[in-house]
Amino acid sequence: MEISFVKPALPGSGTIVLLVAEERGLGPLGLTVDKAAGGQLVRAMSAAAFIGKHDETLTIQAPAWFDRVLLVGLGKLDQLKPTAIETLGGTIYSQLTSAKAGSATIVAELPEDAPAGLNIATDLAQGALLRSYRFEKYRTVERPGHKSALTELTIAANHPNAARTSFGRSKAIAEGVFFTRDLVSEPANILYPESFAERVRERMTALGVTVEILGEAKLAKLGMGALLGVGQGSERETQLVVMTYNGAPKVKNKRPVAFVGKGVTFDTGGISLKPGPGMEDMKWDMAGAGAVAGLIAALAGRKAKVNAVGVIALVENMPDGKAQRPGDIVKSMSGQTIEVLNTDAEGRLALADALWYTIDRFKPQAVVDLATLTGAVIIALGGEFAGLFANDDTLAEQLLAAGLESGEKLWRLPMADAYDRQIDSDAADMKNIAGDRGAGSAIGAVFLKRFVKDARWAHLDIAGVAWSKKDKPTIPKGATAFGVRLLDRFVADVFEH
Ligand code: BES
Ligand code: MN
Ligand code: ZN
Repeated sequence: MEISFVKPALPGSGTIVLLVAEERGLGPLGLTVDKAAGGQLVRAMSAAAFIGKHDETLTIQAPAWFDRVLLVGLGKLDQLKPTAIETLGGTIYSQLTSAKAGSATIVAELPEDAPAGLNIATDLAQGALLRSYRFEKYRTVERPGHKSALTELTIAANHPNAARTSFGRSKAIAEGVFFTRDLVSEPANILYPESFAERVRERMTALGVTVEILGEAKLAKLGMGALLGVGQGSERETQLVVMTYNGAPKVKNKRPVAFVGKGVTFDTGGISLKPGPGMEDMKWDMAGAGAVAGLIAALAGRKAKVNAVGVIALVENMPDGKAQRPGDIVKSMSGQTIEVLNTDAEGRLALADALWYTIDRFKPQAVVDLATLTGAVIIALGGEFAGLFANDDTLAEQLLAAGLESGEKLWRLPMADAYDRQIDSDAADMKNIAGDRGAGSAIGAVFLKRFVKDARWAHLDIAGVAWSKKDKPTIPKGATAFGVRLLDRFVADVFEH
């Protein structure tokens, strides 16, 4: 889909999309169309009781010289914000696709009393672009009616040059999102630790980001017994990938902000085998690592003025004659020993070494990890919020704010010494699960906390939000890339001054 920006004018054909503020009726261009169509638009609005509520739509077929007019409700003007506009862009894209429109022009005009500072043209375009993502590479036959006919989307705006420039930045972020969605969508026979690392290397090299890939020999030398134990039963070699992006080489404080991702390319549970039904979902148990890779791509793509590192632990959790057993004791890079009472609590083992390594090597200003860590967070928060744990209130507030701004929302959950005591082990420094099933997400978090020393750290449990079973305005069902837009916003707000 080609997206372009032009000055406001009525096109001579195709589909036109008009925005209608709640209870405010058509804007100037809308009234022109209505007049040319002999009042057909206003009559249709009244017949359908369309008043312009947020995300409300109405299609009028073949008025005047157009194929159709799509009216889209802006809702109440004082509630209009960037995420709400992106939602509209996504809804417009899906409506245009259902209507089989080949080209369309969105008239991005707002009434004069709309809040100042909104980038309506850019955000509509971004919403449409994000919704247009598809993962179809394994289809040898197109599904009838599934491919969008929309090849040209034109946005008519008062300042098309400014919109085009700011859309350049949005597009780089969308490319990061799509990179993540591609990675997360891949099946585990195609995307395993080495092939994942290779894809990251290719993309990052093209973007000027330094990549290091550490294999098992190197990880053993570093003492990463916790990470290596997870991959022990797999035919695939465990990898740790380090991405270094130096977008602010001249700043005084050279310490980077760091992002660490859980990249379990398939999680069978290991010897603590998961039940069969639904196990296929565990191909996306690398969504944390996928988000970190997409985030670094987004930052580099939009030339963010920040020094950032991404570290992803890539490992496959399989049952096998060589696999680790419940009760095994492993030694982590930190020196602390862990009794592995459940081989299905593997994400925390992989992250323990990845976090320690990242903090030890880079002394980051802050470190945020992303992981599909627990089923419990799905029970607590479902698909609406990711769980946030942090050892620093300022960092937590910054992340919560970025969540609201980006629409990738977080909800803070507690870490407490009482949870921490539950992972003390009789046989080693700690065990990887607690004795009972309560507060499973917090138990995962306090386990990780033992590997972050005094770094400012936050943990995002994204198990509930990494994959969507249904279409959402800016997310076709499937991999969401949760975390990319959130952390891009976080970096822009906190580290790019
Ligand atoms: N990858 C899973 C968590 C998960 C479950 C992610 C469902 C997405 C959807 C994780 O490795 C896991 O198995 N966690 C266990 C921990 C338990 C053994 C303490 C869980 O949540 O059941
Ligand atoms: Mn598991
Ligand atoms: Zn897992």
